[in-house]
Amino acid sequence: QRCTEEIERFSPQSGDDVEAFRLKFLVAKGVVRSLFEEFKSVPAEQKRMLGQTLNELKQAAEQKYKILQTQFASAAQSSTGEQEDLTLPGAGFVFGSRHPLSLVRKEIVEIFKKLGFTVAEGPEIEDDWHNFSALNFPPEHPARDMQDTFFVRKQEGNDIALRTHTSSVQVRMMESGTPPFRAIMPGRVYRNEAISARAHCFFHQVEGLYVDEGVSFADLKQTLYHFVQELFGEDTKVRFRPSYFPFTEPSAEMDISCTICKGAGCTMCKGSGWVEILGCGMVDPNVLKNCGIDSERYSGFAFGMGVERITNLKYEIKDLRLFSENDLRFLSQFETEL
Ligand code: PHE
Repeated sequence: QRCTEEIERFSPQSGDDVEAFRLKFLVAKGVVRSLFEEFKSVPAEQKRMLGQTLNELKQAAEQKYKILQTQFASAAQSSTGEQEDLTLPGAGFVFGSRHPLSLVRKEIVEIFKKLGFTVAEGPEIEDDWHNFSALNFPPEHPARDMQDTFFVRKQEGNDIALRTHTSSVQVRMMESGTPPFRAIMPGRVYRNEAISARAHCFFHQVEGLYVDEGVSFADLKQTLYHFVQELFGEDTKVRFRPSYFPFTEPSAEMDISCTICKGAGCTMCKGSGWVEILGCGMVDPNVLKNCGIDSERYSGFAFGMGVERITNLKYEIKDLRLFSENDLRFLSQFETEL
């Protein structure tokens, strides 16, 4: 009984005290063992009761020691004089891996850099002018609707919102310089959509802009065709479908032959053999004028591609949510770059 109390009360100040505790109670000639020795000579009728008490005492002492040991771990080590074995191999670093979206953005940037495109960025919080008005969106265009846009602040004539596309960076670039412009603009964009495997409230785009004298739709097609061949390989086909964007005329959407099923039809291309990866077109003269550029002298093309869509194709990823959940089982599958 006295022993149990002492064990409970024991509160060491240092690793040395912990060691003293061990020496007092737990070693071969310690209190616990010697009580067990005495126990052998106890009359048989008392053995049952006493045996139980003794076992409890032993457990209490061992338990307490374990807890103290972890509390005083480093101090206890030095007190036992244990030395580190310097010949053991090191623990090694665990390297992180690149996020798949970063890997793909980097690939996209590298391809366009070789074509002479520079890289530019713009703010994610934009005003109505750069995200919509300068890009020729009519005042009542549905894309400005509360449904799609996350507004930050309503203000007369120039609301502040999270950009819904990277086309806003085109405007910033053209406003602040003189042609020629040849740049790509990667970045994150936001849309007010319910989150699911196929849609998210934010995603990534890479915008492209080329404005100079005599830029034609043929330049647009060849540039994007070259890009796709570089990114997905030489047997990748492209097709352009007529489309509409307020800021380009004519406009198109570009599909590539499905790189997963090779045209045979799969869930990614919904059986069609084609996947849409970007929107594009010739910069609308109104946009050039809005940005103070002589639309008689200059022409240009623009495009905007979805990085998630391209990454899904490259790595056969079927759920957009994986990109933002930070699940290491997913992330660690991608390459480490030193
Ligand atoms: N901004 C368009 C989108 O988000 C894409 C696009 C960019 C289309 C440039 C044409 C030219 O869908």
